[in-house]
Amino acid sequence: MKQLILKPELHKFQTCKEFAKEFELGEDDLILTNEYIFNPYFKELNLPVKTIFQEKFGAGEPTDIMVDAIINEAAKYTFKRIIAIGGGTIIDIAKVLAVTNGESVDKLYDKKNELKKHYELIIIPTTCGTGSEVTNISIINRTRLGVKMGLTSPEMFAEKAVLIPELLKSLPFKVFATSSIDALVHSVESSLSPKATDYSKLFGYKAIEMIITSYQRLVKEGKEILPDLMDTFLTASNFAGIAFETAGCAAVHALSYPLGAKYHVPHGESNYAVFTGVLKNYMEIKQDGEIATMNEFLANLLNCDVKVVYEELENLLNSVLQKKPLHEYGVTEKDAEDFAESVMKTQGRLMANNFVVLDYDRVLKIYKELL
Ligand SMILES: [Fe+2]
Repeated sequence: MKQLILKPELHKFQTCKEFAKEFELGEDDLILTNEYIFNPYFKELNLPVKTIFQEKFGAGEPTDIMVDAIINEAAKYTFKRIIAIGGGTIIDIAKVLAVTNGESVDKLYDKKNELKKHYELIIIPTTCGTGSEVTNISIINRTRLGVKMGLTSPEMFAEKAVLIPELLKSLPFKVFATSSIDALVHSVESSLSPKATDYSKLFGYKAIEMIITSYQRLVKEGKEILPDLMDTFLTASNFAGIAFETAGCAAVHALSYPLGAKYHVPHGESNYAVFTGVLKNYMEIKQDGEIATMNEFLANLLNCDVKVVYEELENLLNSVLQKKPLHEYGVTEKDAEDFAESVMKTQGRLMANNFVVLDYDRVLKIYKELL
């Protein structure tokens, strides 16, 4: 049994300037980022790098059309390293860019088992949630086929993941809230997964502790201290990424996808909408084992009785991001049935990592309880 997958070498710098110096950024580098990230942090460094600004090729999540356009743009330049600086979209595109020799997204999916790395890949996250800098999956919306599909290959790991807390200092509060809750969900789900190991749990539980105690400080001391907490949130998000790369995510992610897809709810927010609902249902089925350890760990951090641990967790999370019942997003009883069916049909990869088996009736029950 695999104990821990940790492919990229990890680096951390307090500032972009220190990173640029240490990594000797120059003519052989292509930086894939957004202009609003590049201008305040890198422009004044006058680096002789090539740049591609993703937003010029479309907005929102990566689509086959956007990625193909960026592949064509990159083909105009000569470079040896790709440096991805951004959120989930940028990172997902860069992973694809590293394994293409100019081939389109469709061609890469066709030969997904023979992908070869063509460029060294360095990933720098600018949110504190995806953990995507240490994983090898890229999710592309294949609009030509009408499906959202993950492309995964051992060749798509970055050689180096770099954490630069400076980049997160001006993160909008809503992005911080949804991405950090996503990281918390990664750490809880991966620690409850049957694939969890002592090694993955070391990172998972530590991430939980870092996120919960930082939320508590935020509530107590006010939003002004958020920039000072970003280093901790970014590191915790990375720990959670390491934990789920080995142990996987599960039902919370599986149940959140249909909600995100139909009602365009941000990933971390749709996770939060179903998070404690899934945990409560795990507890109805099985009260001992890892969930008992988890609940005790959480109760200790939250300073509450283990019987009310999910309520207390929600109280704390609500002060960061208000939880909404599903009907407020527009979800109907009929949607609940469609969502449950879609989870059972398409989310097998995630549902295999559940703490206990959840069948169609249970998934439907969870959705209905959250309506
Ligand atoms: Fe996630």
